[in-house]
Amino acid sequence: MADAGRHPNITLLTQAEVKSVSGYVGNFEVRIFKKARYVVESECTACGDCAQVCPVLVPNEFNMGLDSRRAIYQPFPQAIPSAYVMDIDHCLGHDPMVCGKCVAACKKKCIDFNMSDEEITVKVGTIIVATGIELYDPTELDEYGYTRYENVVTSAEFERLINAGGPTRGHVIRLTDRRPPKSVAFIQCVGSRSQKRGEPYCSNICCMNTIKSTLMLKDHDPEVDVKVFYIDIRAFGKGFEDLFRRSKGSGVRFVRGLPGSIREDPKTKDLILTVENTATNQLEQHRVEMVVLAVGVKPPEDMKIVQEMLALQRTADGFYLEAHPKLQPVEAATRGIFFAGCAEAPKDIKDSVTQASAAAARAMRLMNPRQLTVEAITAEVLPHLCTACGICARVCPFGAITVDKRTKSPAVVTTAACAGCGTCAAECPQNAIVQHHFTDEQLEAQIDAILQDEPWEQIPVFACNWCSYAGADFAGVSRFQYPPHARLIRTMCSGRVSEKLVWRAFAKGAPVVLVSGCHFGDCHYLNANHWTDRRIKRMWKKMEKMGLRPERLQLEWISAAEGLRFQAVMEKMEHLRRTVTPEEVAETQRVLASYDGLREASDSGSEPAEES
Ligand code: FES
Repeated sequence: MADAGRHPNITLLTQAEVKSVSGYVGNFEVRIFKKARYVVESECTACGDCAQVCPVLVPNEFNMGLDSRRAIYQPFPQAIPSAYVMDIDHCLGHDPMVCGKCVAACKKKCIDFNMSDEEITVKVGTIIVATGIELYDPTELDEYGYTRYENVVTSAEFERLINAGGPTRGHVIRLTDRRPPKSVAFIQCVGSRSQKRGEPYCSNICCMNTIKSTLMLKDHDPEVDVKVFYIDIRAFGKGFEDLFRRSKGSGVRFVRGLPGSIREDPKTKDLILTVENTATNQLEQHRVEMVVLAVGVKPPEDMKIVQEMLALQRTADGFYLEAHPKLQPVEAATRGIFFAGCAEAPKDIKDSVTQASAAAARAMRLMNPRQLTVEAITAEVLPHLCTACGICARVCPFGAITVDKRTKSPAVVTTAACAGCGTCAAECPQNAIVQHHFTDEQLEAQIDAILQDEPWEQIPVFACNWCSYAGADFAGVSRFQYPPHARLIRTMCSGRVSEKLVWRAFAKGAPVVLVSGCHFGDCHYLNANHWTDRRIKRMWKKMEKMGLRPERLQLEWISAAEGLRFQAVMEKMEHLRRTVTPEEVAETQRVLASYDGLREASDSGSEPAEES
């Protein structure tokens, strides 16, 4: 942190909050709200004279409220910049001045109540998102009595108690009588790995944090009786198993089972834990003087705000979704945005540092050439056909298209921001957008080639590059047998599969058609497959109106790992294909030919509804 504060190429903006982000990779504009510090950073020597005379006491957030701080304070001893800050909400008042003792005490005269909040706008090429985590609040787990018994503390509170810079200078004490506990119990997985209360995932850090704490406790007092109640210990990192063994070797007892309840002895304030030991199948009671709840972590509430600002995706757990779990683990799907630390998943310090370094390296790699290269699959507007209807701008997941409806000038694609999903090309009612390398002509040529001979035998399958196509590939390399009639047409995203292409397949005699893409939440292009979903549903309605069987057009979500699912879907398609008679195909061709042209069929329903 000190290095970052000193680095000539790093500007630290503390007390600051991002208000909005616009633009695209290489050209982001970030609006920042910076709160007034009321202390001149460059002048303050952090001598602390001001805090000594401040009459206001506020619970100290850094020490988990276990001690207090003043209204003018240093957030924590190693805070960067090394300067005091005024908590203006708790200051007795500066306008008009009520107290002013700090101003009088400051020899450097660096307290300035005339400072005001400011708004800053910066231009940046890339953005690294490091939103951190929040701790689980164990209040709802009433059986552990966190709100009722003072000697039940969270792992974060214990961490401050045992820290030399903490409120007790590193002396672990019971909060009821302020003497060192002779026995301590740690309860694991509090708020983690639970479907009902807390979070369903493993918080990753609690096991090793507890093991570290047990070793520190034993270092302080080898006689202290320490027990750890757990489901299973996850000591998977480098050197972690060794630490686990050391903890056991130092006399810490690991009991497999989580307590069902904790009750307090009102006289001694000891805590009695009732637990089913699943290793011995015994119901046990343990009396200890202090309980530490190893609380899990969860995504901060305001991750949603950042998500909306940067057009990011989140997993079901609430953390940000990386562009690819194996190949792009620090990148967002939106180009130029990277993740560090727990923004993407719970991580310990080592993994956070590793990911932050990787994110910084990726950002530098992108910016260093001072020129952006884009894949040759981006969209391009044909200005002579564009009517500036704005549909393309509305469906673009990356906000890469702008349309000035006022001047009615043709839509403009910002190539650097375009990721090449092709949704705009599929939705444009005027056919005024082409996606390079996936143009209508190229895709139609593939359809025509597939259905040139014995079309009733073929099953055209539109498969997105990232999931379904890879799923088909996986089925192949895994030697899963599937019907030989599948004919794959690759698009970058299922969002590219326009109505026009599907109608063309039916018009050329396809008995059935499959459109497949990534599961919701997995689409490589944010929400592009939601537009696919809407489009296909729209087509089913049209097919019904035209007297065609809607089930002949199928939509399936298949991930890259679902080779077996691809096999099952293809078997279903083959079964469906067999139900289509030559007469039905001929009737379809007749209906489509009289459907005022295929182009018309595509146009009439192209107005996409607002994404909900
Ligand atoms: Fe697979 Fe969008 S990338 S559906």
